Amino acid sequence: MKNIDEMREYLKKYDAEYLLNFYDELSEDEKAKLLNQIEQIDFDYMKELYNTKAVFNMEENKITSIPAIDKNKLSDDAFEQVGIEEIKAGKLAVCSMAGGQGTRLGFNGPKGTYMLELDKPTSIFETIVMKLKKVYEEHGVLTYWYVMTSEQNDVETQKFFEDNNYFDYDREHIKFFKQGELPLLDTNGNVILKDKANVFMAADGNGGIFRALGNKGIIAHMKEHGIRYLAIGNVDNILIHMVDPIAVGLMKENNIELLSKSFIKPTPEGKWGVFCKVNGRPRVIEYIETPRELLEARNEEGELIYGDAHFGCNYFDVNLLEKIVTEKLPMHAAIKKNKALSSIGQVEEIDTYKFEAFIFDGFSMADDIIVFRVNRNDEFAPIKNKEGEETPESAIKLYKEFYAKD
Ligand code: UD1
Repeated sequence: MKNIDEMREYLKKYDAEYLLNFYDELSEDEKAKLLNQIEQIDFDYMKELYNTKAVFNMEENKITSIPAIDKNKLSDDAFEQVGIEEIKAGKLAVCSMAGGQGTRLGFNGPKGTYMLELDKPTSIFETIVMKLKKVYEEHGVLTYWYVMTSEQNDVETQKFFEDNNYFDYDREHIKFFKQGELPLLDTNGNVILKDKANVFMAADGNGGIFRALGNKGIIAHMKEHGIRYLAIGNVDNILIHMVDPIAVGLMKENNIELLSKSFIKPTPEGKWGVFCKVNGRPRVIEYIETPRELLEARNEEGELIYGDAHFGCNYFDVNLLEKIVTEKLPMHAAIKKNKALSSIGQVEEIDTYKFEAFIFDGFSMADDIIVFRVNRNDEFAPIKNKEGEETPESAIKLYKEFYAKD
């Protein structure tokens, strides 16, 4: 590691010596930690991100729709049977993306620890274990569960599992791995401090999952245990159905390395990404980036052409994961207000750029995709906002209605 003099010299090159403005006020531990943080930053890459700020450009790309396979229109149970055999053979593992911060929910903890008033108070994480236990009862197989955390919530998440005795699931079948981080930038493109001892860092988006799966040994673990398919899901959807034999059967029988679930959007509105092909490659265009004309485009029958919503339940063949890991995904820039430290040591609320990779940017590495359309109310009960739509209340209502059908 560089010593303080070397670091001052090095930072001159990037006009970033200000990161050490308060260095002399820090304890020895804080000093070492700060130097280490700065050393991890790839300043050239951050500059490149600031200068490009990737936004999706519809004019430069050829966009086409993807016909979905509708679960309600499958005529027999052949795919399900094939999938059950794969699941029984331990070829499917599941993964929850739980590194997000839940800002919109206004909840100050890992989202998976959010408590729901079900028959008894139950955390989101526990709802997932309840499903895995059911799979064990039905098929006699313990499914591996990988949980992606972030620097901000890893310790708290793992402690929550420990305190809850891993919800009485086999401890060896739950593995945690941490996603990466990137510095926030101010509107002039400078790396900033959160406080005197820390650079302002944030999780690198759920597309950071691929690099983390590779770096943290999860892909190696999958291969070692003969796991071929990984179902990756948003942690905040309490009806998520990841151990889905039909999805696995469809992939195996069609020899396709990527499957993503969808539901049909009733109107052009909605905070969901939509499926399409961009220059012939599978993609989702995120709601914040979807041009109005694409959202509203309808076919002759009056149906939305890009009406299949992505809801974060994605199946990858391990071979595809290995390919994506080596790719540099595009980073999406968002402006967010944050409290940061000014160069004279005052805390100020400023506009910051946050850079995030999105999981579906990895889709373009697949030759093809199955968009598997399911019934929205059977598999989608998201907890996103404190008020309005997609709240804990609406999710619990959907959850209870679904299980009342059984
Ligand atoms: C996400 C999807 C959107 C979809 C919607 C459905 C992405 C980029 N967008 O949007 O297409 O229609 O869900 O509800 O996936 N996460 C991490 N680390 C991060 C950031 C997020 O693990 O750095 C996790 C979150 O904990 C959550 C999931 O990724 O489980 C989705 O992230 P979120 O930021 O909530 O995405 P949405 O905007 O809701």
